[in-house]
Amino acid sequence: MTDPVPVITIDGPSGSGKGTVTQLVARRLGWRVLDSGALYRLVGLATSKSGVGFDNHNKISDIANKLNVEFNGEKILLDGEDVTDVIRTEAAGNDASRVAAMPAVRATLLDWQRQYARAPGLVADGRDMGTTVFPAAKVKIFLTASAQERAKRRHKQLKEKGLPANLAALTAEIEERDARDRGRAASPLVPAPDAIEIDSTGMDIDRVVEIVLRQAHAAYATPL
Ligand code: C5P
Repeated sequence: MTDPVPVITIDGPSGSGKGTVTQLVARRLGWRVLDSGALYRLVGLATSKSGVGFDNHNKISDIANKLNVEFNGEKILLDGEDVTDVIRTEAAGNDASRVAAMPAVRATLLDWQRQYARAPGLVADGRDMGTTVFPAAKVKIFLTASAQERAKRRHKQLKEKGLPANLAALTAEIEERDARDRGRAASPLVPAPDAIEIDSTGMDIDRVVEIVLRQAHAAYATPL
């Protein structure tokens, strides 16, 4: 199977810098972005708003199927309500990780995510972009960083957005979320066998972008 358009997958745990790297690489290449985590966050938020218990897999799968989402520029609307900021909270991240463990939810989001692969190319950010969603991508990156460094980065991001943040709580939440993402049966967080692993602890983000662009150049003859 070959992808109809070039795809770069950037997977890794939360706070590894993959969101930033994805945006920078996409901007340099003029390609589209898939922020797959946002889709799981939306299902998590819709579940929490509906009052349905997180153990009710049938109802949550129904919620995922009927999700009423609108992407309006930078804004994300759920049932017409602006949820751009609220889906970025740690609580929404945790709810996302709970619904993300459900195979029916993952199956529903699969086609949706694949529709993002349009010309001239796609940079896809997530946990299973290289293993499950775009297995034929020619450039696969698995970005990591130590839990402490990732918690520090999240802390800084949240503070910059004026959102509440506590470093110790963040570290614990990141570790808990990682364990759930790595340990689940459905599409666990693991590098694809053909992924390039980059540990970004103490590494400049521009250096990571440079490595990805070099890989893209070799695979897809994109500009450096
Ligand atoms: O990347 P982000 O932190 O926004 O993702 C939120 C949660 O959504 C992750 O902790 C993970 O459980 C889930 N997720 C996933 N597969 C993806 C993207 C996100 O399971 N491709």
